[in-house]
Amino acid sequence: MESALTARDRVGVQDFVLLENYNSEAAFIENLRRRFKENLIYTYIGSVLVSVNPYKELEIYSKQQMERYRGVSFYEISPHIYAVSDNTYRAMRTERKDQCILISGESGAGKTEASKKILLYYAVTCPMNDHMAALGDRLLQSNPVLEAFGNAKTLRNDNSSRFGKYMDVQFDFRGAPVGGHILNYLLEKSRVVHQNHGERNFHIFYQLLEGGDEDLLNTLDLERNPQNYQYLVKGNCPRVSSISDKNNWKVVMKALPVIGFTEEEVQKLLNIIAGVLHLGNTQFGEGEEGETYITTETQITKLVKLLGVDGSALREALTHKKLTAKGEEMISPLNFEQAISARDALAKAVYGRTFTWLVEKINQSLALKDEIYHSNKGSSVIGLLDIYGFEVLQHNSFEQFCINYCNEKLQQLFIELTLRSEQEEYETEGIAWETVQYFDNKIICDLIEEKHKGIISILDEECLRPGETCDVSFLEKLEDTLGGHPHFVTHKLANGKTRRVMSREEFRLLHYAGEVNYNVNGFLDKNNDLLNRNLKEVMCQSDNQILSRCFRREEVMDQKRPEMAATQFKNSLMKLMEILMSKEPSYVRCIKPNDAKQPGRFDEVLVRHQVKYLGLMENLRVRRAGFAYRRRFEAFLQRYKPLCPETWPNWHGRLVDGVSTLVNHLGYKPEEYKLGRSKIFIRFPKTLFTTEDALEAKKPEIALTLQTSWRGYRERAKYQRIRRAETAFCMYTIPLVVYGSVFIRFIKGFIYRHEEYCPENEYFLDHVRYSFLKNLRKNLPKSVLDKSWPTPPPLVVEASEHLRTLHMRNMVVKYCRRVQPEWKKQMVQKVVASEIFKDQKDNYPQSVGRLFLDSRLEREQINLKVVQTLGNDKYGASVTKYDRRGFKPRPRQLLLTNTFAVLVDRTKIKQRIDYTALRGISVSSLSDGMFVLHMPSEDSKQKADAVLQCDHVIELVTKLAMMAGKIDYVNISPGSIRFTVARGKEGIIDFVRGSEMKVTKGKRGHLLVTVPRTNTT
Ligand SMILES: Nc1ncnc2c1ncn2[C@@H]1O[C@H](COP(=O)(O)OP(=O)(O)O)[C@@H](O)[C@H]1O
Ligand SMILES: [Mg+2]
Repeated sequence: MESALTARDRVGVQDFVLLENYNSEAAFIENLRRRFKENLIYTYIGSVLVSVNPYKELEIYSKQQMERYRGVSFYEISPHIYAVSDNTYRAMRTERKDQCILISGESGAGKTEASKKILLYYAVTCPMNDHMAALGDRLLQSNPVLEAFGNAKTLRNDNSSRFGKYMDVQFDFRGAPVGGHILNYLLEKSRVVHQNHGERNFHIFYQLLEGGDEDLLNTLDLERNPQNYQYLVKGNCPRVSSISDKNNWKVVMKALPVIGFTEEEVQKLLNIIAGVLHLGNTQFGEGEEGETYITTETQITKLVKLLGVDGSALREALTHKKLTAKGEEMISPLNFEQAISARDALAKAVYGRTFTWLVEKINQSLALKDEIYHSNKGSSVIGLLDIYGFEVLQHNSFEQFCINYCNEKLQQLFIELTLRSEQEEYETEGIAWETVQYFDNKIICDLIEEKHKGIISILDEECLRPGETCDVSFLEKLEDTLGGHPHFVTHKLANGKTRRVMSREEFRLLHYAGEVNYNVNGFLDKNNDLLNRNLKEVMCQSDNQILSRCFRREEVMDQKRPEMAATQFKNSLMKLMEILMSKEPSYVRCIKPNDAKQPGRFDEVLVRHQVKYLGLMENLRVRRAGFAYRRRFEAFLQRYKPLCPETWPNWHGRLVDGVSTLVNHLGYKPEEYKLGRSKIFIRFPKTLFTTEDALEAKKPEIALTLQTSWRGYRERAKYQRIRRAETAFCMYTIPLVVYGSVFIRFIKGFIYRHEEYCPENEYFLDHVRYSFLKNLRKNLPKSVLDKSWPTPPPLVVEASEHLRTLHMRNMVVKYCRRVQPEWKKQMVQKVVASEIFKDQKDNYPQSVGRLFLDSRLEREQINLKVVQTLGNDKYGASVTKYDRRGFKPRPRQLLLTNTFAVLVDRTKIKQRIDYTALRGISVSSLSDGMFVLHMPSEDSKQKADAVLQCDHVIELVTKLAMMAGKIDYVNISPGSIRFTVARGKEGIIDFVRGSEMKVTKGKRGHLLVTVPRTNTT
């Protein structure tokens, strides 16, 4: 942006945030128009790309152009779809976060073209080996195939996508594409059997008839003229001047094998396409008794051959319906209309399911292969969403309802992620500002999708309700439930003016993008999407493998009703929203300049409408309400530092201070800018223009300085170092042929090695990284105790730290897996001991190397009676108990059970200490073995505190604390321990250092424990 600002007057601004009059829609459109006239079809609103369909080939998509955008900052260069592609790609690589690019706009605005350009950009610019190139090829080749089967000519767009597409491209850690996956949404199946005037069926039908050779057509029993097929004549538009069906046919036939279709699969696929055409030509007659019969027997013969089904079963299924009533199967004849709808339902189902199969097949071919998958768990994804745009036709039906609902959901996401996040950015940066109002379309989403009350629920209910239901009863139900909703109107509910433009069979939704009247005719049928069971049975038995995969036997057996079409669509949209929300979004907002698909024509009314419903003005207002321009401190400083002597050539202080110094030097007034926590926010575009102009003027001077210092630099000793590095490098890695250019890149890289990753230093930095990793691989520590690690170069310090942690974790996990249960128990206890005593008690270090034993007493040492009372396998240790009064020492055994501890005097249990009652365990910080068990003084059942001494105090206290669940209750007192002698009476043990261990009576009735110093070596 900044570098091209000199051209701003002639071609408007490249970023709408720089528009002075940012509240004016007229100024916005004027800027778009001026740029469009100059073939500048791309403009930013901050990071959102606005694209106007040029309807002509522009010279801006060459390989050289792609190279220009590689690795270049978003704002350094004129807006382009490649800039968005590159920026997204780099964000994925540097931030390691999944990305998605959401392309929206109405039909014909250029979404699909944009998505293709993005894919091509990745295919050309990403690093690739042969395997990846093959994948890139498959990714690209999947497009014409999907378009042949899923696109059609409509009034708005000669190549309109009649399905929604979300494509994930997966990249490995080097940034090379390694896999892809496509999700398809709601193909407009009704087009298979009917087209509006001036529209066509899906391209593939015409491609086959136009491009297929004579032999092929003969095998498929087809004639070349599309007019001969009922399913192709409804729109009365067999040819489209902008489309060459013949050439496209060739492209598709070439692409299919690349994506992995076998010859047989292609044949089966074409059989189905031809089968659908023959199905359309299957006609019915009405007998005298009202029975329906097939008048075109030859068609049945063709269908038998092409679809691989049984003739009489098909004949029967097209004219009869199988019902199950009270557990019994009944066959009932269809009347003439019913037979026609059954035939059309079959054609739609066959085509629709084949399309889904096709997508799955493509997915298999794009899938990450197993071995790559396993080595790529850390890889990242870029998602591309190219989904039908908001659509308003003369006659809007169920399909438009779904399409427009989808657009409402996407608008919600846009609000959520852009408008709201913009406002949140100010908050996180701690910048005060005024909230901007925008229309939140949640109310419309709710109107459509809310449980029980929303249009989809009402539609489902009406489809399932027993009794007479029809499209009109659905409309009445809508009126009853939704009457009064501000975004819902029907003829009955409308005022006089609106009533005049609405028919009685319509309901109107006030979408965020405008009003649309939907005709309810066909809503119930399309939502039901029913195919008679006997037709399904016929298809299950097909010997065409594609069809037998599409119609599964289990489906016929399953009595449960599948979900209705609208609900299925709603659920798949919910999933899509989840996918998109989990990624970092970028936006491309496509605009259609005229309805006539003509280059150079800019219809202001049409554009204004799109600007409005795409919410572009709101987007801009929010972006500008606070500040027109924001940049991270480092980026701002990096660009403008030559303008201030203190910041040039390098600023060594805090970034925020550097920016502050710089803008003070430039004379920014306080109201012109704010410093956030990590970014500078500039309020007016003018401020930025002035700064940019100053930089422009300074450039020759900077160039001179750089040249001079470069020459000087060459002379200096550092150069020798490079030479040495270069020589070593060449010996190992570079063939002589590329020696020269590699050498220069290497040196250049060395010079720029402290800069951010850029084309000048990428080679050098990659080499440094690579060498370090190679060296690391050879010198990884082999055991958890080995703390060595190769010293990383500054560039990879952070990565090295991560690797070190990972490697250590890995070794620890491996180690733990090998550990025996006994050893594990030991380690757990040792860890607890460390938590309690490490750096707290002097004799802890000595205990570390000694095993904790299961007991310190032999079985025979414990009195039999006691064993009988307490059971075996208790931890026990010999202790000395000091009387609370007089401190007379007495030998005792301390035994630990699961719920209490006991003090035993030879044969007698003298004291029982319930763990639940234990208030605390105190030890000194010295290396003595004294410990006190604190008991609640008010509890008459429990005796008062016990003053004890043990030679294994660390082990004993650890075990006791663990068994009692009182690890946090261990106190380590440095000087003395207070304890309760009796209710209200306190005793004290003092600890002092001395030459030998002694326990004596001290002054004032204290117990004095003299403890020798531990030898810490
Ligand atoms: N960037 C572009 N350059 C040239 N022509 C374009 C461009 N974008 C769109 N078009 C033209 O407009 C037509 C419709 O575009 P498309 O991407 O199919 O629309 P959408 O997917 O939004 O319905 C394309 O067939 C092509 O002729
Ligand atoms: Mg499209």
